Amino acid sequence: MTVSQILQTPPQQQPVTARGWVRTFRSNRFIALNDGSTGSNLQCVVNFEQTPEEVLKRITTGASVEVRGLLVASQGSGQVVEIQVDEIIIHGDSSPEEFPLQPKRHSLEFLREIAHLRPRTATFSAVFRIRHEAQFAVHQFFHERGFYHWATPIITSSDAEGAGEMFRVTSLPADNPPRTESGEVDFSEDFFGQSTNLTVSGQLEGELGAMALGKIYTFGPTFRAENSNTTRHLSEFWMIEPEMAFYTLEDNMQLAEDFAKHIIRHVLDRCPDDLALLDQRLQQEEQAKPAAQRQPMGLVEKLNFVVNNPFVRCSYTEAIEILKASKPNQKGQFAYPIEAWGADLQSEHERYLVEKHFQAPVILFDYPASIKAFYMRLNEDGTTVRAMDVLFPGIGEIIGGSQREERHDVLVEKMQAVGIDPHHLDWYLDTRKFGTCVHSGFGLGFERMIQFVTGMGNIRDVIPFPRFPGSAKF
Ligand code: 4AD
Ligand code: MG
Repeated sequence: MTVSQILQTPPQQQPVTARGWVRTFRSNRFIALNDGSTGSNLQCVVNFEQTPEEVLKRITTGASVEVRGLLVASQGSGQVVEIQVDEIIIHGDSSPEEFPLQPKRHSLEFLREIAHLRPRTATFSAVFRIRHEAQFAVHQFFHERGFYHWATPIITSSDAEGAGEMFRVTSLPADNPPRTESGEVDFSEDFFGQSTNLTVSGQLEGELGAMALGKIYTFGPTFRAENSNTTRHLSEFWMIEPEMAFYTLEDNMQLAEDFAKHIIRHVLDRCPDDLALLDQRLQQEEQAKPAAQRQPMGLVEKLNFVVNNPFVRCSYTEAIEILKASKPNQKGQFAYPIEAWGADLQSEHERYLVEKHFQAPVILFDYPASIKAFYMRLNEDGTTVRAMDVLFPGIGEIIGGSQREERHDVLVEKMQAVGIDPHHLDWYLDTRKFGTCVHSGFGLGFERMIQFVTGMGNIRDVIPFPRFPGSAKF
């Protein structure tokens, strides 16, 4: 049985076996045993008179042990059941001098440097259990609504977002690649006979799926070589991208709202203990801040608020008016002051709208065409596109999506305007030639969602082995 199962079993002096890692060993008597199945530890009471001294010495923080004994009602406070140990087997020692995790509070920065061991802490195991539940909720949400999971390639020859922030994939020798007559690297000699990269998004191939299966979603890793050293950017992150034939932007926004709420509701239902632990952690962190900077809500309270309230819909144009008139803009407190329509919104602006102005999640839509990707549906005004971003408190943009440009000629023009060769994407354009239709989709940054539901301040702390500029250890 797992520790989680044992803790839920009525104690009847029955024999049980538990295996796990020692979190602490107090007074040569009380082992707090954890096996990752729950945040709670199982108390195992060792009979130290009957246990040889050599064995007692090996029960140290981090050691893996197997404990056999009787499950009884606990005498002490803090737990309902405990094991009265008859026999203890040490599977793997852990030197107390060398094991970096001590039974005390370590900083998240320190733990990031030992990412191979941090899942053994209470905080990180809670985060990763929640991550698993959220992942399950994603598949459940789409499966129940008639979507098909659609596998899109990780190695690609196209740049879906057109932002050019890609990692090259090649099997050519780095020190002496073959060259063309004009001296450029000759990628026709490369593994795929052309230059390839890691994907930044599965969307373009996702659209092909939607044009056949109706409603699809992808869920895979995506890679961006942008040099963003922020608490919200990873170089390798997971994205969920649904794509739906015959969906308008309004349908798309509604789906995005329902989807985000479904994940949060699922985590609230399934992970109350882990959330309580993270909530407590967050509250301790908040107490250390000056009162004016504290978050107004606790973690669970915030999650319930988001689940129970509608997301605000606001056009980009309206948002610019709000931001122009806002106090921080008037007082010159934005690093990027909002002067005119057309400005790209920075996270400081997004957070002002969400946290100060509306005090709720916001869906911004109808952005200027000039600041959005080529594939978005041009509005009749000729200057805005049917784009939408979902903005969350503390996070900023969590979802980005749009209605797609379904008109062949308009799409070709838009490609040419940003320097994309239409011949290179002829397969994508074929969807607009053969049975094109109104369609829409979006991408949810999975780690940003996990940041939101766990309250973790840094995105590097919600994926087991984060990739960011200057770091690919582990
Ligand atoms: O807004 P983005 O770039 O949109 C797309 O890639 C579209 N193709 C999606 C679509 O319509 N199918 O990225 C989508 C989301 C963002 O809203 C953000 O949550 C997340 O992906 N994201 C990142 N998360 C972590 N680290 C990064 N570097 C991220 N870049 C984007
Ligand atoms: Mg975006």
